[in-house]
Amino acid sequence: MTQLSNRHAPHPVDSIFIDRWSPRAYTGEAIDDASLLSLFEAARWAPSANNSQPWRFIYAKNGSAHWGDLFALLNENNQRWVNRAAVLIALVSKKTHVRPGETVPSPLKNHSLDAGAAWASLAFQAYQLGWRTRAIGGFNRDAAPEVLGVPEGYQVEILIAVGKQADKSVLPEDFHEREQPTPRKPVERFIAEGKFSFAE
Ligand SMILES: Cc1cc2nc3c(=O)[nH]c(=O)nc-3n(C[C@H](O)[C@H](O)[C@H](O)COP(=O)(O)O)c2cc1C
Repeated sequence: MTQLSNRHAPHPVDSIFIDRWSPRAYTGEAIDDASLLSLFEAARWAPSANNSQPWRFIYAKNGSAHWGDLFALLNENNQRWVNRAAVLIALVSKKTHVRPGETVPSPLKNHSLDAGAAWASLAFQAYQLGWRTRAIGGFNRDAAPEVLGVPEGYQVEILIAVGKQADKSVLPEDFHEREQPTPRKPVERFIAEGKFSFAE
Protein backbone atom coordinates (compact mmCIF):
# COMPACT_ATOMS: atom_id res chain seq x y z
CA MET A 1 0.00 0.00 0.00
CA THR A 2 1.23 3.50 -0.78
CA GLN A 3 1.65 5.44 2.44
CA LEU A 4 -0.43 8.55 1.86
CA SER A 5 0.35 10.80 4.79
CA ASN A 6 -3.16 12.06 5.52
CA ARG A 7 -4.95 8.78 4.82
CA HIS A 8 -5.10 6.14 7.52
CA ALA A 9 -7.50 3.22 7.91
CA PRO A 10 -7.78 2.08 11.55
CA HIS A 11 -10.20 -0.62 10.37
CA PRO A 12 -8.54 -2.86 7.77
CA VAL A 13 -9.64 -2.38 4.15
CA ASP A 14 -8.19 -3.28 0.79
CA SER A 15 -5.44 -0.80 -0.06
CA ILE A 16 -7.22 0.34 -3.24
CA PHE A 17 -9.78 2.24 -1.13
CA ILE A 18 -7.03 4.31 0.46
CA ASP A 19 -4.71 4.63 -2.50
CA ARG A 20 -7.28 5.80 -5.06
CA TRP A 21 -7.60 9.54 -5.19
CA SER A 22 -8.53 12.05 -7.87
CA PRO A 23 -5.62 14.01 -9.31
CA ARG A 24 -6.10 16.87 -11.74
CA ALA A 25 -2.63 16.62 -13.28
CA TYR A 26 -2.55 14.39 -16.33
CA THR A 27 0.15 13.64 -18.88
CA GLY A 28 -2.01 13.93 -22.00
CA GLU A 29 -1.24 10.29 -22.88
CA ALA A 30 -3.97 8.73 -25.04
CA ILE A 31 -6.06 5.86 -23.72
CA ASP A 32 -6.37 2.68 -25.78
CA ASP A 33 -9.76 1.10 -26.50
CA ALA A 34 -9.00 -2.04 -24.50
CA SER A 35 -8.37 -0.04 -21.31
CA LEU A 36 -11.40 2.14 -21.88
CA LEU A 37 -13.61 -0.90 -22.37
CA SER A 38 -12.26 -2.41 -19.15
CA LEU A 39 -13.45 0.66 -17.28
CA PHE A 40 -16.94 0.29 -18.73
CA GLU A 41 -16.86 -3.45 -18.08
CA ALA A 42 -16.27 -2.75 -14.38
CA ALA A 43 -19.17 -0.28 -14.38
CA ARG A 44 -21.33 -2.91 -16.01
CA TRP A 45 -21.17 -5.17 -12.95
CA ALA A 46 -22.37 -2.58 -10.45
CA PRO A 47 -25.50 -3.44 -8.47
CA SER A 48 -28.77 -1.61 -9.27
CA ALA A 49 -32.43 -1.65 -8.24
CA ASN A 50 -34.27 -4.46 -10.06
CA ASN A 51 -31.00 -4.96 -11.95
CA SER A 52 -32.23 -2.03 -14.04
CA GLN A 53 -28.67 -0.90 -14.92
CA PRO A 54 -29.74 2.71 -15.51
CA TRP A 55 -26.22 3.99 -16.30
CA ARG A 56 -25.26 5.21 -19.75
CA PHE A 57 -21.78 6.50 -20.65
CA ILE A 58 -21.00 8.92 -23.49
CA TYR A 59 -17.28 9.35 -24.06
CA ALA A 60 -14.95 11.44 -26.17
CA LYS A 61 -11.22 10.87 -26.37
CA ASN A 62 -9.02 13.95 -26.25
CA GLY A 63 -8.57 15.23 -29.81
CA SER A 64 -11.48 13.24 -31.25
CA ALA A 65 -14.39 14.76 -33.16
CA HIS A 66 -16.63 14.99 -30.06
CA TRP A 67 -14.00 16.07 -27.54
CA GLY A 68 -14.72 19.75 -28.07
CA ASP A 69 -18.44 19.28 -27.36
CA LEU A 70 -17.90 17.58 -24.00
CA PHE A 71 -15.02 19.88 -23.07
CA ALA A 72 -17.10 23.00 -23.77
CA LEU A 73 -19.68 21.84 -21.19
CA LEU A 74 -17.13 22.14 -18.38
CA ASN A 75 -16.93 25.14 -16.11
CA GLU A 76 -13.97 27.33 -16.91
CA ASN A 77 -12.07 26.21 -13.82
CA ASN A 78 -12.43 22.54 -14.75
CA GLN A 79 -11.35 23.22 -18.33
CA ARG A 80 -8.05 24.47 -16.93
CA TRP A 81 -7.02 20.95 -15.86
CA VAL A 82 -9.16 18.61 -17.98
CA ASN A 83 -7.29 19.73 -21.12
CA ARG A 84 -4.60 17.11 -20.41
CA ALA A 85 -6.99 14.20 -19.73
CA ALA A 86 -7.14 11.23 -22.11
CA VAL A 87 -10.89 10.94 -22.24
CA LEU A 88 -13.96 12.72 -20.94
CA ILE A 89 -16.97 10.59 -20.04
CA ALA A 90 -20.51 11.80 -19.38
CA LEU A 91 -22.43 9.58 -16.97
CA VAL A 92 -26.15 9.63 -17.75
CA SER A 93 -28.88 7.78 -15.84
CA LYS A 94 -32.25 6.54 -17.07
CA LYS A 95 -35.07 7.67 -14.81
CA THR A 96 -37.58 4.94 -15.61
CA HIS A 97 -37.59 1.16 -15.91
CA VAL A 98 -39.98 -1.53 -17.12
CA ARG A 99 -40.15 -3.83 -14.13
CA PRO A 100 -40.22 -7.60 -14.56
CA GLY A 101 -43.77 -8.70 -15.49
CA GLU A 102 -44.86 -5.16 -16.46
CA THR A 103 -45.09 -3.46 -19.84
CA VAL A 104 -45.25 0.20 -18.83
CA PRO A 105 -42.15 2.00 -17.52
CA SER A 106 -42.32 3.23 -13.94
CA PRO A 107 -40.07 5.79 -12.23
CA LEU A 108 -36.79 4.52 -10.87
CA LYS A 109 -36.26 6.11 -7.49
CA ASN A 110 -32.61 5.09 -7.37
CA HIS A 111 -31.37 5.95 -10.84
CA SER A 112 -28.74 8.40 -9.56
CA LEU A 113 -27.66 6.11 -6.75
CA ASP A 114 -27.16 3.22 -9.16
CA ALA A 115 -25.27 5.40 -11.62
CA GLY A 116 -23.05 6.42 -8.71
CA ALA A 117 -22.24 2.79 -7.97
CA ALA A 118 -21.24 2.33 -11.61
CA TRP A 119 -19.01 5.42 -11.44
CA ALA A 120 -17.25 4.08 -8.35
CA SER A 121 -16.63 0.72 -10.03
CA LEU A 122 -15.21 2.49 -13.07
CA ALA A 123 -12.94 4.61 -10.89
CA PHE A 124 -11.51 1.65 -8.98
CA GLN A 125 -10.95 -0.36 -12.18
CA ALA A 126 -9.19 2.63 -13.73
CA TYR A 127 -6.94 2.82 -10.67
CA GLN A 128 -6.10 -0.90 -10.99
CA LEU A 129 -5.03 -0.36 -14.60
CA GLY A 130 -2.83 2.64 -13.78
CA TRP A 131 -5.31 5.26 -14.94
CA ARG A 132 -6.64 8.01 -12.72
CA THR A 133 -10.10 9.57 -12.66
CA ARG A 134 -11.81 12.66 -11.32
CA ALA A 135 -15.57 13.15 -11.24
CA ILE A 136 -16.82 16.57 -12.29
CA GLY A 137 -20.10 18.15 -11.18
CA GLY A 138 -19.04 21.57 -12.42
CA PHE A 139 -20.48 21.60 -15.91
CA ASN A 140 -23.38 23.18 -17.75
CA ARG A 141 -26.31 20.96 -16.78
CA ASP A 142 -28.79 23.01 -18.81
CA ALA A 143 -26.85 22.61 -22.06
CA ALA A 144 -25.64 19.04 -21.53
CA PRO A 145 -28.73 17.10 -22.74
CA GLU A 146 -28.86 18.93 -26.05
CA VAL A 147 -25.09 18.88 -26.65
CA LEU A 148 -24.92 15.15 -25.87
CA GLY A 149 -28.19 14.28 -27.63
CA VAL A 150 -29.70 12.97 -24.39
CA PRO A 151 -33.50 12.57 -24.69
CA GLU A 152 -36.22 13.21 -22.07
CA GLY A 153 -36.29 10.68 -19.27
CA TYR A 154 -32.55 10.68 -18.68
CA GLN A 155 -30.35 12.74 -16.36
CA VAL A 156 -26.79 13.82 -17.02
CA GLU A 157 -25.15 13.09 -13.65
CA ILE A 158 -21.46 13.93 -13.91
CA LEU A 159 -18.59 14.17 -16.32
CA ILE A 160 -15.54 12.03 -15.58
CA ALA A 161 -11.98 12.86 -16.59
CA VAL A 162 -9.61 9.91 -17.07
CA GLY A 163 -5.88 10.18 -17.62
CA LYS A 164 -2.38 9.10 -16.68
CA GLN A 165 -1.20 11.02 -13.66
CA ALA A 166 1.46 13.68 -14.17
CA ASP A 167 3.50 15.79 -11.81
CA LYS A 168 1.54 18.73 -10.43
CA SER A 169 3.90 21.11 -12.21
CA VAL A 170 1.84 20.61 -15.40
CA LEU A 171 -1.08 22.35 -13.70
CA PRO A 172 -1.68 26.08 -13.39
CA GLU A 173 -0.03 27.19 -10.15
CA ASP A 174 -3.21 27.82 -8.16
CA PHE A 175 -4.00 24.07 -8.31
CA HIS A 176 -0.64 22.94 -6.89
CA GLU A 177 -1.49 23.08 -3.20
CA ARG A 178 -4.70 21.05 -3.69
CA GLU A 179 -3.02 18.36 -5.80
CA GLN A 180 -2.83 15.76 -3.05
CA PRO A 181 -4.99 13.05 -1.48
CA THR A 182 -7.70 14.33 0.84
CA PRO A 183 -8.45 12.90 4.31
CA ARG A 184 -11.83 11.54 5.44
CA LYS A 185 -14.02 11.84 8.51
CA PRO A 186 -13.53 8.94 10.93
CA VAL A 187 -16.08 6.13 10.66
CA GLU A 188 -17.53 7.02 14.06
CA ARG A 189 -18.78 10.33 12.62
CA PHE A 190 -21.07 8.70 10.08
CA ILE A 191 -22.34 5.44 11.54
CA ALA A 192 -25.02 4.90 14.18
CA GLU A 193 -26.64 1.78 15.52
CA GLY A 194 -30.40 1.71 15.09
CA LYS A 195 -31.21 5.43 15.03
CA PHE A 196 -29.89 8.63 13.53
CA SER A 197 -27.68 10.24 16.15
CA PHE A 198 -25.41 12.65 14.36
CA ALA A 199 -24.50 16.21 15.24
CA GLU A 200 -24.48 17.17 11.57
C1 LIG B 1 -20.30 14.23 -7.83
C2 LIG B 1 -18.91 14.82 -7.79
C3 LIG B 1 -18.67 16.07 -8.34
C4 LIG B 1 -17.37 16.59 -8.35
N1 LIG B 1 -17.13 17.78 -9.00
C5 LIG B 1 -15.86 18.20 -9.16
C6 LIG B 1 -15.58 19.34 -9.97
O1 LIG B 1 -16.45 19.97 -10.58
N2 LIG B 1 -14.26 19.71 -10.10
C7 LIG B 1 -13.25 19.04 -9.48
O2 LIG B 1 -12.08 19.41 -9.66
N3 LIG B 1 -13.50 17.97 -8.69
C8 LIG B 1 -14.76 17.52 -8.54
N4 LIG B 1 -15.02 16.40 -7.78
C9 LIG B 1 -13.92 15.68 -7.11
C10 LIG B 1 -14.05 15.72 -5.58
O3 LIG B 1 -13.76 17.02 -5.13
C11 LIG B 1 -13.14 14.67 -4.97
O4 LIG B 1 -13.54 13.39 -5.40
C12 LIG B 1 -13.21 14.73 -3.43
O5 LIG B 1 -12.61 15.90 -2.95
C13 LIG B 1 -12.54 13.53 -2.77
O6 LIG B 1 -11.20 13.44 -3.18
P1 LIG B 1 -10.60 12.12 -3.83
O7 LIG B 1 -11.51 11.70 -4.96
O8 LIG B 1 -9.23 12.54 -4.30
O9 LIG B 1 -10.54 11.06 -2.77
C14 LIG B 1 -16.31 15.86 -7.76
C15 LIG B 1 -16.56 14.61 -7.20
C16 LIG B 1 -17.84 14.07 -7.22
C17 LIG B 1 -18.05 12.68 -6.67
